Parts: sequence; structure tokens; C-alpha cells
Amino acid sequence: MTTDRVVARCPAKINLRLEILGRRPDGYHELRTLFQAVDLEDLLEIEPAAELSLAVDDPSLSSGEDNLAMRAARALAREVGMGRPGARMRLRKAIPPRGGLGGGSSDAAGALAGLSRIWRLGASREALAAVGATLGADVPFFLSGGTAFGAGRGDRIVPMPVVPETAVLLGIPPYGISTPEVFRRLEGVGPLTPQGGGVTVPALFHKLVAEKDFGLVSNDLERVVLAGWPELASFRGALLATGARAAAVSGSGSTVFGLYDGEVPSRRERESLRERFPGWTLVVTRTVAHGVRVEAQGGDGAEERRG
Ligand code: C5P
Repeated sequence: MTTDRVVARCPAKINLRLEILGRRPDGYHELRTLFQAVDLEDLLEIEPAAELSLAVDDPSLSSGEDNLAMRAARALAREVGMGRPGARMRLRKAIPPRGGLGGGSSDAAGALAGLSRIWRLGASREALAAVGATLGADVPFFLSGGTAFGAGRGDRIVPMPVVPETAVLLGIPPYGISTPEVFRRLEGVGPLTPQGGGVTVPALFHKLVAEKDFGLVSNDLERVVLAGWPELASFRGALLATGARAAAVSGSGSTVFGLYDGEVPSRRERESLRERFPGWTLVVTRTVAHGVRVEAQGGDGAEERRG
């Protein structure tokens, strides 16, 4: 069935390792990271329309021009020289904002991929990634997804072979953390991984895949995040006590994730975590081998997967 309506499925990410090498002349930080997509998705529905519009089901988020999905639409239209771009977008959020899970960046990548289909641009992933990198450092990752090495601001992506599916428990506190604020606090501490230390990311990948060794999972930003938000350190300790092979803050927080060799903690163990950490949301998920996926949606609700 031919249809012009698509849904972009926009996954979250965690950082299996995050090394901060130093501050760059442009104000950003030079980093090395191992991104991993997980099976927690925002849905961005897109259909043709005369004007560009966005509706978001989370009232705490803007649905105006400053929403990253809207900025992505404008940037893509500008890039291809569209005078009056039109599309109706509806965003259904599942990824919490300010959680270090890349939700806004994933939505932007979904908008780029979905609109490229709706507007029949036939744009390559590389071309979309170049537009995406101007919107946020994590956007290019979500256009490839799966497992990927990120360098530069995190926007230079090298896709890696798929890691074996791993069970993940996300602990999301009832508050977000501002990424610029975390990087500002880092200024008092200085670069955390010496230049040249980046070889450890491919080493980590090898250890994860070949040896199932999670020992190199780490995040340089924890130095400031755990100092500023000590509850996150307690939660990380609690995850390790439930048998997590590794546990760390994702990105600049506020999410803390645990990786499990086999099953995540039982329902009872999760219940007791919730009692100890009131207001926290626990999400049982798993690693996935893809980034944003655009699916055609039939008028009758049937979906046609087109990759
Ligand atoms: O690119 P994005 O909008 O996701 O980054 C948010 C903020 O995080 C930036 O404005 C910057 O303060 C900080 N950042 C950084 N170095 C990076 C990525 C982000 O300093 N590599």
C-alpha cells in the first residue's frame, strides 16, 4: 500500500565508556565514547502538510521552534533549499528529558530520516549526519545506532560490530541534570583521561565482545556528577549489589544503568530498589543493533517496515 505517513522510531542510548580528553577552542570537549543504543523508544509520526508543526505529548517539553525535532526540520529544509517546508509531526515521548539518554538528539535524527522520506529527498545517511551534527553532538550516532565509537565532540562516528544482546536496567531519578552545567563543573577538575588514552575504547569493545568483561565500563563525567548528586552513587552501588556486571552514569546523567550477564534483577529486587529510591523509575531494557528506523504507516494502521 502506498502511503505518505511514516513513524520514526527513535531509540535511547547509553555510554558504555566516556573519556573526556580536554576542552576545545570551540568550547566543546574532545571526547572518546562507546555509544550503545537501547530498546527504549520515542515515536515521531510525520505526515505531509502545508505548514511545519509539532505536537509533543510531554507538557514539560517545548513543541515550538526550539524543540530539537523542529530545529532538525528547519535545518534539513534549509540544507536542500526548500522555501516553505511542510509536515505535521507528533512526538510521543518515552525517553525522559535531561536523563543522559540522548532522547532529544534521537528525536532530531528521527525527524531528519523521516522527513527525508516524506519530502522524497533521497538523502544519504552521511548527508543527514552532517546536518545532524550542527544540531547536537549525539545526533549522528542515532542515524547509525547499534554500537559505535564516537570521537571529536562525539559527532565523529565509527560504527562497530554488534555486541551480543545484553540486559540493561535503567534507573531514572525524578530529576534531570543539565549537560552544560556538568561540563562547566568539569572545568574545575580539568581533563580526566590523558590525550592518547583513547585506545581503551576499542580495547573495551574487544573485552566486551570476546571476553564478556565489563571491567572497562566507565564515565569520566562521574567525577562531577556523583559529587554533585550523591544519590546517583548510592544507586550505582545498589545496582552492583543486585549482580550488575557493571553500572555507570549515562552521559552527563541523570540516568544510572546496570549491565547484566543474563537476567536483570527480579521484580522483588526492583520493588525493593524503588522503596529505597523513592520517585525513581526503573526501566528494564536491552541493547539493540540499530539506530532510528523509519516505517511507513498505512491508513488502516498497518505498518510496512522499510528500514
Ligand atoms: O551538542 P549538545 O547540544 O548535545 O551539547 C550540550 C552541551 O554539552 C554543549 O553546549 C556543551 O556545553 C556540552 N558539551 C561539551 N562537549 C561535548 C558535548 C557537549 O562541552 N563533546
